[in-house]
Amino acid sequence: VQSEKESLLIVLNYAKDFFKHNLSEEEEGQSIGLSYFRERGFTQEVIQKFDLGYSLNQWDALLKAGVAKGYQKDLLEKAGLIICKENKEYDRFRGRVTFPIHNISGRVIAFGARTLKKDDKPKYLNSPETEVYHKSDILYGIFQAKQSIRNEDNSYLVEGYTDVLSLYQAGIENVVASSGTSLTSNQIGLIKRYSQNVTILYDGDTAGINASLRGVDLILERGMNVRVVIFPEGEDPDSYCQKLGGAAFKDYLQEHSQDFILFKTQLHLKEAGNDPIKRAGIIRSIVESIAKIPDPIRQSVFYKECSNLLNIEENILIEEGKKIALSEQ
Ligand code: CTP
Ligand code: MN
Ligand code: MN
Ligand code: MN
Ligand code: MN
Repeated sequence: VQSEKESLLIVLNYAKDFFKHNLSEEEEGQSIGLSYFRERGFTQEVIQKFDLGYSLNQWDALLKAGVAKGYQKDLLEKAGLIICKENKEYDRFRGRVTFPIHNISGRVIAFGARTLKKDDKPKYLNSPETEVYHKSDILYGIFQAKQSIRNEDNSYLVEGYTDVLSLYQAGIENVVASSGTSLTSNQIGLIKRYSQNVTILYDGDTAGINASLRGVDLILERGMNVRVVIFPEGEDPDSYCQKLGGAAFKDYLQEHSQDFILFKTQLHLKEAGNDPIKRAGIIRSIVESIAKIPDPIRQSVFYKECSNLLNIEENILIEEGKKIALSEQ
C-alpha cells in the first residue's frame, strides 16, 4: 500500500502539472499569468525549470479537475490545495501565479502563489504546513541550486522567490531563498551539505539589513563563512539584477561582497558615532558573533581585525569573548 506521504506527493505533483497547463494552454493563464512573468523579464526557460504555473480565478477549478481524476477531497485538503470550511470546499489558490516548492530530491511539497492585483493582500499566499511540508526545513530553490552550490563552493541566500528566478536566469544558479523568514538551523544544514560558504543578499531596506544581522550567528556557529552584499535602498536582488543585467550584476556582487563580521562591525560603528558609551555597547554584540566561530585560528583573525576597526586592544575583546563562551556553556 501507498503511504499517506506518497499520496500527498502524487496529488501535489498533479496540482503542479494542472497549474503549468493553465499557464501555457489556457487563455486566462496565458493572457494573465504568462504575460505577468514576461513583463517581469522571466524567460520560457526559467519558467520551465522552476515549474511556474497559474491558478485559474474560479472557486473550484483544481477541486473539480482533481476529483474527476480520482483524488479524494480529503487528500486535496491534507495537501493544502483546497480549504474545507462549513460544508464548503474551495481552491486555496485562485487567480494567482504559482511557484512550486521542491524538496531536495525535486518533488513538489508546497506552493507559493502571488497575486497579480496591485494592492491585494496577502501578496504571497503559501501552502500551510502539511505532513510533507515543514516551512522551516526547506529552502526555495535548493533542488535546482544544489549541484551549482557544490561546484561554486558558495551559496547565495536571498529573501524571495523572484530573487531566485532572476539570479538563476542570469547564470547564478547557486541561489536559494529563505522565503521571507529568518533562517533556521535545519535550513543552514541543507546548504552546509554542499558548501561551507554563504553570501547573504537580502533586500536593500532596513528590514532586509536587520534580517541579515539576525540568524547569522547561527551560521557562524556551524563554522561556515558568511559574506554579505548590501543593495541600494529600495532594490532587491531581483529588481537590481533585472535593472543592471546579468553581467553588471555579477560585477556588483564581486565588488560589494564583504565579510559579515566586518560588515557588522562597521555598521555598528557608524551607528555609535563618537559616543563612547554607545561604542562600548556595540563591542559585546560583535564579540558575541566572533565567539560563535568554532575554529580558533579564524577567531583570532577576526579579533585582530575588529580590534583595529574598533580601536580597542585585542586582549580586551578576547577576554570578553571567553566570558561569553563560558556563560553560554
Ligand atoms: N512572503 C510571503 N508572504 C507575504 C510576503 C512575502 O511568504 N505576504 C515571502 C515570499 O517568499 C517572498 C519573500 O517573503 O518572496 C520576500 O518578500 P518581499 O521582498 O516582500 O517579496 P518579493 O520576493 O520581492 O516579491 P515581488 O518581487 O514579487 O514583489
Ligand atoms: Mn485545459
Ligand atoms: Mn522585502
Ligand atoms: Mn521583489
Ligand atoms: Mn523583495
